[in-house]
Amino acid sequence: MDYKVADLTLAPFGRTEISLAEHEMPGLMAMRERYAASQPLAGARIAGSLHMTVQTAVLIETLVALGAQVRWASCNIFSTQDHAAAAIVVGPTGTPEAPAGVPVFAWKGETLEEYWWCTEQILSWPDGHPNMILDDGGDATLFVHSGVEFTKAGAVPEATASDSAEYRVILATLRASGLDFVGLADSIQGVTEETTTGVHRLYEMARAQTLLFPAINVNDAVTKSKFDNRYGCRHSLIDGINRATDVLIGGKVAVVCGYGDVGKGCAESLAGQGARVVVTEIDPICALQAAMDGYQVATLDDVVATADIVITATGCKDVVTAAHMAAMKHNAIVGNIGHFDNEIDMAGLEATPGIERRPVKPQVDQWVFADGHAILVLSEGRLLNLGNATGHPSFVMSNSFTNQVLGQIELFTRPEAYPTGVHVLPKHLDEEVARLHLPALGARLTTLTDAQAAYLGVPVAGPYKAEQYRY
Ligand code: NAI
Repeated sequence: MDYKVADLTLAPFGRTEISLAEHEMPGLMAMRERYAASQPLAGARIAGSLHMTVQTAVLIETLVALGAQVRWASCNIFSTQDHAAAAIVVGPTGTPEAPAGVPVFAWKGETLEEYWWCTEQILSWPDGHPNMILDDGGDATLFVHSGVEFTKAGAVPEATASDSAEYRVILATLRASGLDFVGLADSIQGVTEETTTGVHRLYEMARAQTLLFPAINVNDAVTKSKFDNRYGCRHSLIDGINRATDVLIGGKVAVVCGYGDVGKGCAESLAGQGARVVVTEIDPICALQAAMDGYQVATLDDVVATADIVITATGCKDVVTAAHMAAMKHNAIVGNIGHFDNEIDMAGLEATPGIERRPVKPQVDQWVFADGHAILVLSEGRLLNLGNATGHPSFVMSNSFTNQVLGQIELFTRPEAYPTGVHVLPKHLDEEVARLHLPALGARLTTLTDAQAAYLGVPVAGPYKAEQYRY
């Protein structure tokens, strides 16, 4: 078995944490029970690109329990939990000397070159092509699509002056790759995509008619975005800030840029610690929601000089500029919880005349300006809840990942129902995911009577809401 992780001797610790996580992931364990006999993913060859955490380990072993073969990489250079990666390579029955698990290519603190090499590895199977992708942020999907585009064009183009450092690395990786991208894309039956930003990319490709295979938008399952994005970030944002800085949050001015699902969870957690929360928004509806929830709504320019903590949660780019950072208070904390690192202009910060970077510890840097004042930047502007802490806890990820498993089963077993395009899971499956998680919380659901169901015009067993209902 080929693999590349930090240290296989971490596997026993990883295995212990995986067994604790299994107890907190009733949705995934129910999938194992329900589908153990029928093996709906037998024959599926899944290339997975999603943060290699303990929770993802439970997802991977669920896919395997349903019959799939899997290769895995992380979708961020800082998000891998090395003990989880080791445990997955070793597997439940293997040893560090004789690993018998799943090929993983992921470690905490990859360079960009290593990151894209790992992405290539999950697509390079020793015996033919993968036939499914499980993606988070769309990098594996982007790699395949770019490979096909450049193969058809005859060559990988030279980078231009305006290309980002990361895009240069992608081009170099594609140029050096021996993959048969056209054959690879033809073999892919579909992709299930985890996050808002990746889904955004998929819809753009579908609109441009460049999407090469069907996609399921897992993010917009209600039991994903209204739970993971919101309650997950409510938990893991302050976890990241605390582990990185241990600064008291109460009483501080905390700015949250973006009041979508992630921003709502972030604002709530900061307010819960007693911070005075300010929200920035471009969308008047979300801005009004923030105001109604009791937060000051302002522009970043209005409040940058008084902010103690600035968090980006927009999925947009250039939200915090180098000029903003230069105008901040001494030791103001700057972090991003959106998927990509372009929300904070790190390149602009680095290029500021006289600036000096002083590493405090891994994933925490003090940047000192020429006038002597400094700011603290978390995870180099990459998502801080996975870079500085351990991401979302198991219970909320069980919701997200049960949707992933159902999405993989749908695309793999019912290809005729999902033509090339972007699809969401049917609502009855969304409700089923929620249903699977209620008993663990001691929640008891009320059952409609036949008369009530007829009155509402819904089946007793659901689905209960129309597609346009917003929760
Ligand atoms: P969303 O679309 O619900 O919310 C983003 C909000 O930002 C929108 O309301 C939008 O109007 C606002 N916005 C856009 N540009 C802005 C700007 N320049 N200034 C101020 N506000 C702006 O998206 P969601 O689901 O909240 O996700 C946000 C990001 O977080 C995405 O990149 C997503 O992939 C990522 N994400 C990260 C997670 C993590 O664990 N770190 C978990 C889930 C999502």
